[in-house]
Amino acid sequence: MRLTHLGLWHFRNYERLSFEPGPGVTLLLGENGQGKTNLLEAIYYLATTRSPRAGSDRELISNAELREPIPFARLEARVQREGELHIEILLRLEPAEGSENGRGPASHVTKTIRVNGLPSRAAQLVGQVNVVLFSPDDVTLVSGPPAGRRRYLDITSSQVSPLYLRTLQRYQRVLLQRNHLLRQVREHRQPRELLDFWTAELAATGSYLVAQRLRMVRALDVAARAAYQELSGTSQRLAIQYQTTTRDPIADGEDVEADLQARFRTRLAQLQPREIEAGMSLAGPHRDDLTFTVDGVDVGVYGSRGQQRLVVLALKLAETRYLEGETGEAPILLLDDVLSELDARRRRLVLAKVANGCQTLATATDIDTFPTEFLAQARVFRVESGALEELAAPPS
Ligand SMILES: Nc1ncnc2c1ncn2[C@@H]1O[C@H](COP(=O)(O)OP(=O)(O)OP(=O)(O)O)[C@@H](O)[C@H]1O
Ligand SMILES: [Mg+2]
Repeated sequence: MRLTHLGLWHFRNYERLSFEPGPGVTLLLGENGQGKTNLLEAIYYLATTRSPRAGSDRELISNAELREPIPFARLEARVQREGELHIEILLRLEPAEGSENGRGPASHVTKTIRVNGLPSRAAQLVGQVNVVLFSPDDVTLVSGPPAGRRRYLDITSSQVSPLYLRTLQRYQRVLLQRNHLLRQVREHRQPRELLDFWTAELAATGSYLVAQRLRMVRALDVAARAAYQELSGTSQRLAIQYQTTTRDPIADGEDVEADLQARFRTRLAQLQPREIEAGMSLAGPHRDDLTFTVDGVDVGVYGSRGQQRLVVLALKLAETRYLEGETGEAPILLLDDVLSELDARRRRLVLAKVANGCQTLATATDIDTFPTEFLAQARVFRVESGALEELAAPPS
């Protein structure tokens, strides 16, 4: 899989960009705050329709553009897969009615997606272009709250399975309805029996999501364990485990996938009185989590910062292989400033692993980050104030 062209209009600090990365490795060099991460963010956004960091899509529209009557940002990519894929995403800030200049808090961003010229939904686009982003913020996957880990599982699963994304969207609707109903039952405004339908739906869609996540985590666990030993240069054992709320913990250790749905239903039946009291669904993939342990010790809680970084790196390397195995295509790798944190030996290890067949875009502030043998096969661009300039030969 290969990105052959990226076009940006009014995206972050890029007023206008037309960029053709190399087929292999492309390096983006630049001082802090020049737009290196913004560029990788644009590619990630085109692949997943989500920003890895923005709180809202509004942030993505360039500040200068916000002074225009109808501000917009446009992203466009051409990707070589089996055929050529042309992706366009248009973000428009719609004025809010009644507010003075239409820019009040009530204004909102609409997103229009086109794939090969045809209007598409996010669920139709996601999975067509696979990317793996390595970012310094990834460490929160290990050390941060569970919501980030669930998001990670959802995005990665969606990249390999459109059905996963559709089921996830259905699950989220069911969850909302069910929670609403639980509160109505609590207030005696609806009969308890009405819950049965939504409970069955929650169990059906939720158990599918859990089964897919379990399958993926098992693959990541094995590959990440090997990668971690190589990266750390130790024989310490990394284990990644999926923790689910959908079955009674007592049943742990048994064949987890056997009758996941039946167990989830049993669990929901047990929880029902508490759920009504709480007015929300207390079990399901929306409450599940991942744990990372090294030699049995939880790295999120007890790990050093360096150890946490290596764990995430091992996870991302595992993800790269997983996507390739599932889709039959090497994903596009986006390495945002991750090499500078590593020593020379680990840098070489990571580069040898990633550059292996994957188109790679890597950012750094300093060219010294990259080993010379790596520079020899790379195209190098300087990023300055939202503009790119190719450097003929890497300066030494
Ligand atoms: N909506 C926006 N409109 C205009 N500029 C923006 C917008 N959002 C972010 N920026 C600008 O983009 C710049 C940050 O870009 P980016 O995060 O890509 O930097 P970077 O090159 O990755 O830097 P670092 O080396 O520090 O990671 C900042 O100068 C910021 O002001
Ligand atoms: Mg950056």
